[in-house]
Amino acid sequence: MKISVSPSVIETTRKLILHIIQLMDNEPGKVFNIALSGGSTPAIMFDLWANEYKQITSWNRIKFFWVDERCVPPEDSDSNYGVARALLLAHVPISYENVFRIKGENTPEDEALRYSRIVAKRLPIVNHSVKFDVILLGAGDDGHTASIFPGQEHLLSSDLAYSVAFNPYNGQRRITMTGNTILNADNVIFFVTGKNKANVVKEICDSGDMGPAAYIAHHAKHVLVFMDDLAASEVDGKFCEYLND
Ligand code: 6PG
Repeated sequence: MKISVSPSVIETTRKLILHIIQLMDNEPGKVFNIALSGGSTPAIMFDLWANEYKQITSWNRIKFFWVDERCVPPEDSDSNYGVARALLLAHVPISYENVFRIKGENTPEDEALRYSRIVAKRLPIVNHSVKFDVILLGAGDDGHTASIFPGQEHLLSSDLAYSVAFNPYNGQRRITMTGNTILNADNVIFFVTGKNKANVVKEICDSGDMGPAAYIAHHAKHVLVFMDDLAASEVDGKFCEYLND
């Protein structure tokens, strides 16, 4: 695992976007299957990407998928797809044929199956699991990632690419990518900012599989953590390797 720590959220975001663009520049001609997370953190990334890095991104070589989705329709303010559409997709030249949203309006069990079939059909299968090129993850202050919350760790080892989960704080049902799928990706990138994330970042950067986010960070093939100083404030630097960015 390597970490990139920046003084501000915006600097962290810039480094993250430029890292993804660099990954694509390193493999010209390759189509990248990228899975996006939701929550509030990615909003700044979508906005900056659309407004300041649109011209240097090969949008025709990106296929967007989602890590998870709340079981709400796309026009709902809670929709992860809805936020990405409003801030990013509506402003960049990506074909909607290359945007694969999770349909939060569908029956959760049916949608988890439908979406699992879509990714199985469209992505390479490696080690009996679909392989994403990049998976962007957030982390909750309770240690969750994707929509794999503490107490729902069975989702870390599900055979399905996507499964039904629920937010334990409000009961909201969700569709989430499962742990095996996340671990199978070529690049797992955490994007975590803010003082309230210092504890979960400490878990991610130190040893021990305390919560789902830490488990993923410690078992994925290639993990990067982009964070600001506040989120990194409790990280003991001697355990981490810093990204040369
Ligand atoms: C979601 C996300 C979730 C998120 C964390 C952090 O749908 O909410 O996928 O895993 O990344 O909860 O959320 P914030 O960015 O809002 O802190």
